[in-house]
Amino acid sequence: MLATSLKILNEHYQALNNEGEDVIQGLIQSPKTLPPKYFYDDYGSELFEQICELPEYYPTRTEAWILQQYADEIAQITGACELVELGSGSSTKTLFLLDAYQKIANYCRYVPIDVSHGILKSTVLKLQQKYPNLFVEGLIGTYEQALTKLETTFASSRMIFFLGSSLGNFNPRECDDFLSKITRALQPGDYFLLGIDLQKPKEILEPAYNDSQGITAAFNLNILSHLNWRFQGDFDLNLFTHQAIYNQNDAQIEMYLHCKKTHEVSLEALDFQVCFADGESILTEISRKFNLVNMQKQLETHGLKTLKTWTDPKEWFGLILCQA
Ligand code: AVI
Repeated sequence: MLATSLKILNEHYQALNNEGEDVIQGLIQSPKTLPPKYFYDDYGSELFEQICELPEYYPTRTEAWILQQYADEIAQITGACELVELGSGSSTKTLFLLDAYQKIANYCRYVPIDVSHGILKSTVLKLQQKYPNLFVEGLIGTYEQALTKLETTFASSRMIFFLGSSLGNFNPRECDDFLSKITRALQPGDYFLLGIDLQKPKEILEPAYNDSQGITAAFNLNILSHLNWRFQGDFDLNLFTHQAIYNQNDAQIEMYLHCKKTHEVSLEALDFQVCFADGESILTEISRKFNLVNMQKQLETHGLKTLKTWTDPKEWFGLILCQA
């Protein structure tokens, strides 16, 4: 059995990068915002896994269907290569790719990257048992840290993949920065596999982010619990309600926490106090919905040439394989 490993990328990062400064910046602006990365403490990551199973939340199962259908074809196109996954979570959908690459190579290296220590640790252990000839090297950290710290690969080529339409959680400027970082992390000939949620009627989109079991609401509110434990805060979760709306003009879901009563919140570790007015909102996340052709053009401007695209029969979700 091959060894596996788990490395922490952010040991000194937080102190060096004024941790929490982004929270203050978001809460002093009007309208207030919070960086969506704070959804993902261990509990938030677990809630996200539950969201992926919800009947209303179609992206995960639709992308999984595409991967199940076409993983072998993807592996045939790229040939054996090192697999690097950004925001791997439980790596459930990735199993289709790992199965496909196992068929074409006797040895394979998989580098899952995630901010959640808990979920990455259990994923690495699970994969070690399932795939004896897979070398799994889990990296705990953000995409930025991972992309700048990826070691040179010993494989002939590398495929970075970014699934689940997580690109949609970046605004257009962040999206461009991210794609530039992807290009820098790839050598000519390397591959990038991107999963994106496609534009569709609001009647399908809004229920996916306002589910009937209230799991998305719990996920949204958990951002406040996370700030409470991380920065010694006193957010009262009962004073906020969840709502997600589809903004047709910007083709994006916007997820809000609405405040029900005027009050003050303190984040002691940041030496920061902030007032909330009755009815005031915090924008906690955008989830952009894309057009497959436009995305290929955008990738091309970053030196990423599309080799092939795949969608599901309803064209709700798209997968783009491109080459640097
Ligand atoms: C991680 N990301 C792609 C999810 C999305 O659909 O934008 C996050 C999410 N937020 C609420 N539900 C799911």
